[in-house]
Amino acid sequence: MSELVVLRGASFAYEDGPAVLDGLDFEVREGRALALLGRNGSGKTTLMRLLSGGLRPHTGTLTVEGQPVTYDRKGLTRLRTTVQLVVQDPDDQLFAASVAQDVSFGPLNLGLPDPEVRDRVEEALAALDITALADRPTHLLSYGQRKRTAIAGAVAMRPRVLILDEPTAGLDPDGQERLLATLDALRASGTTVVMATHDVDLALRWADDAALLTPSGAHTGPAATALARTDLLHQAGLRLPWGIAATRLLHAQGLLTEGEPGPRSPDELAALAKAPASPPVPADG
Ligand SMILES: Nc1ncnc2c1ncn2[C@@H]1O[C@H](COP(=O)(O)OP(=O)(O)O)[C@@H](O)[C@H]1O
Ligand SMILES: [Mg+2]
Repeated sequence: MSELVVLRGASFAYEDGPAVLDGLDFEVREGRALALLGRNGSGKTTLMRLLSGGLRPHTGTLTVEGQPVTYDRKGLTRLRTTVQLVVQDPDDQLFAASVAQDVSFGPLNLGLPDPEVRDRVEEALAALDITALADRPTHLLSYGQRKRTAIAGAVAMRPRVLILDEPTAGLDPDGQERLLATLDALRASGTTVVMATHDVDLALRWADDAALLTPSGAHTGPAATALARTDLLHQAGLRLPWGIAATRLLHAQGLLTEGEPGPRSPDELAALAKAPASPPVPADG
């Protein structure tokens, strides 16, 4: 998997504030769903804004496919057709009168011809399952619908990397499941998805890789490995995911052989219980 978007040695501080990020290295690998975790104020939102070009690192570089990003109009347009950020609060993103108008804003701004804009808006509304809301005024939508509209606006840019800042925050359980199904469909169609979340169980279930943002930097690895690092979880103000705790118990009880992947969700635990236990590995000689 190639590294698509890379920050090297990135430092950033707001105005006269202290450094939020200091010499940070961070990679987004194409095709790998990535969960970004860390305590409040650890810099997740700042990092996402650096990756999407909304902020510029004071030191260090941002590269896309090895090419340094230039922060002029042309460079930023190029970055925005590759990386799209969906901010946490949809009300910070939505401003047009209707859903379809809001979603068309990005493609129109790229100067695309009308038929192409229409295609993209239709496709994005369908992907987010909000086609029926196209003509609805955004201020009359529910929070979940506004959230979907904001995501559709980013999807209409057909980015290779879609970055979402705490996308499940504020959604009810059904809304969360529907959003995860939508993100899975986007992943299946080739979009690399990055999300910030505080939900370690969600990260374990959903992500290929997890990055824990701590004062010592970003620690990234396969989700089941990174989310089992008790020391880093502690630094990041997080607890052990439910599935990792269950996996440890299953190993200790001999119900799962070492190296066999453990359950990442209650459904996977139930499936394990129904499957015949793995035969014990015969000792050699
Ligand atoms: N617009 C801003 N102006 C000044 N300080 C900010 C701003 N946004 C965030 N910060 C500060 O930067 C630090 C990191 O914030 P943030 O990136 O939002 O972290 P997180 O998303 O992990 O909660 C915090 O100390 C926060 O107070
Ligand atoms: Mg944040």
